[in-house]
Amino acid sequence: MCGIVGYVGKRPCRDLLINGLQKLEYRGYDSAGISLLADGEIDSVRAVGNLANLRVAVGMGTNGDAPVAAPSATIGLAHTRWATHGRVTEENAHPHGDCSDEVHIVLNGIIENHAELRQDLRGDGHVFSSETDAEIVAHLIEKHYSGDLTEAVRSAFGDLRGHYAFAAMHAAHPDTLVAARQECPLVVGMGDDETFVASAIPAFLAETRNALAIENGEIVTVTPDGATVTDAAGASVARKSEEILWDEDAAEKGGYATFMRKEIDEQPDAVAETIADRLPDKDRVDLSELELDPEFVRSMRRIVIVACGTSYHAGLVGRYAIEQWARVPVEMDIASEYRYRDPVVSSDDLVIGITQSGETADTLAAMRLAREKGAKVMALTNVMGSQATRDADAVLFTRAGLEIGVAATKTFVSQVAAMYLVGLWVAQQRDALPAERVAELIAELRNLPSKIQETLDSVEERVKAVARAEKDGTFFLYLGRNVGLPVCLEGALKMKEISYIPSDAYAAGEMKHGPIALLDESTPVVCVATDSPILDKVLSNVEEVRARGADVVSIATEGTPRVAEASDLTIEVPRTDWLLQPIVAVLPLQLLAYHVARMRGLNVDQPRNLAKTVTVE
Ligand code: G6P
Repeated sequence: MCGIVGYVGKRPCRDLLINGLQKLEYRGYDSAGISLLADGEIDSVRAVGNLANLRVAVGMGTNGDAPVAAPSATIGLAHTRWATHGRVTEENAHPHGDCSDEVHIVLNGIIENHAELRQDLRGDGHVFSSETDAEIVAHLIEKHYSGDLTEAVRSAFGDLRGHYAFAAMHAAHPDTLVAARQECPLVVGMGDDETFVASAIPAFLAETRNALAIENGEIVTVTPDGATVTDAAGASVARKSEEILWDEDAAEKGGYATFMRKEIDEQPDAVAETIADRLPDKDRVDLSELELDPEFVRSMRRIVIVACGTSYHAGLVGRYAIEQWARVPVEMDIASEYRYRDPVVSSDDLVIGITQSGETADTLAAMRLAREKGAKVMALTNVMGSQATRDADAVLFTRAGLEIGVAATKTFVSQVAAMYLVGLWVAQQRDALPAERVAELIAELRNLPSKIQETLDSVEERVKAVARAEKDGTFFLYLGRNVGLPVCLEGALKMKEISYIPSDAYAAGEMKHGPIALLDESTPVVCVATDSPILDKVLSNVEEVRARGADVVSIATEGTPRVAEASDLTIEVPRTDWLLQPIVAVLPLQLLAYHVARMRGLNVDQPRNLAKTVTVE
């Protein structure tokens, strides 16, 4: 979830570009850089850390230092990077150049076929100076360039697979930027005698409110006079610009009222980033980045998952997937319990610590304890360079981008997606699943981003209606079985933490052993009743609840009318493999908590008594 800003016009643009990056800071980043073109040469400066470091590196705001990075240049590119491929270093920060430093590019997203492209380019004599997938694009443009930058970008675009947006400039073209989009956002800002290209509107909103959206598969050539949009085949595309009416507060959140809502809507993209190049073929999961000894993976005795909060719920979903697909026993524990119970753990166990921030004290302590006792420890985290990455033998990044809202949303779905990858990868390493089943599941996993989008597009109105009806409720109950249970736990957690309405999640089969006494006509019961081998069992629990007069809102897989017949209201989610249903079933529950909290006038981004990372011992 990096940030791109480019400028071409009449004004010196160094400060304009860095100010633009500042407006994208809310997206989160770990390094930044800028390239400026003047007098036929590109000058580039990159820095690890925040923009203050970049400002110092280019000589802005320092007394008497000779400024670098061509302050007089009127064309340039700038970038904030959130590391996904390659560590957080100056070399890996963007912009990246080609062999002769004539082409510079900035890129957001992921190039899935980076390994084979890099190999081919190396074979042709290209020399790389970073570990990133992004640098490949500069070399591809160099390879295809023969005087026309737009055509070189178009050819490079044709070689790439993945989801990304990038912008490029060439030393021989002092008044042209060319950018391309495949899945990741890209927008052009049209000023007077100047044009911006960026990954999000806030980057240029202080300079112009006239914006032109670029769609998937399009290439845009930008000059001080405006923008020309073409498709991948070179045909011209007519596109009108529109006026952006956001105020400053909305601009910071990309036009959204809250960060939480913005992050809910970023979930298709977050999951796309998580799975991207880890499913390189129709029949293969590639987690070689874990660098775990294949012999250990084949022979390990069990997996133990430790985590807190939402990460714990993602682990619970992962447990079902790993046991079902890989037939390895999985034990699951809350990190703050595990660390104090003198657990039995040994060198043939794999302990997975799931922590979005990579800094939660209990999870770190549980991971350290397991390591001391000889277990192999793997971290599943969203943050490069976090403590968890240093305390683990193997690391898998979720790549969900920065999450600002305290209530975890996009980081949950990306953790769940990552756990599916782990389950399938272990199954493959241990030959636990037939090849056709692996291929089937890979196809389903690849479809998840579009199914998440479909769900977000379709459930809103029904969820809002439930929220309106129940916003003054005093208690919510969530019921589910099997993979539906962690979805309920997560839904109830969201409701508690942002709406402050007492809520409980229960294994539906346990209801009759006591909690059913809580129910009466005023209790909304949310039932996760997605299609599965135990759906009939869930439905008989729904009957028990309705017999007490409670109102049942069911989350059902499309095409299962018997759930609607058994419920007062049904919210349908798209069909996928039954073990993958949690990733879509959780979305209406996130939205329900969100709308209830908003209707109650609460601050969803910063709920009372809660912080994003709990580091207290
Ligand atoms: C806090 C946050 C939760 C999060 C939990 C674990 O309680 O409010 O949203 O799930 O910490 O955080 P981690 O960074 O370890 O996933």
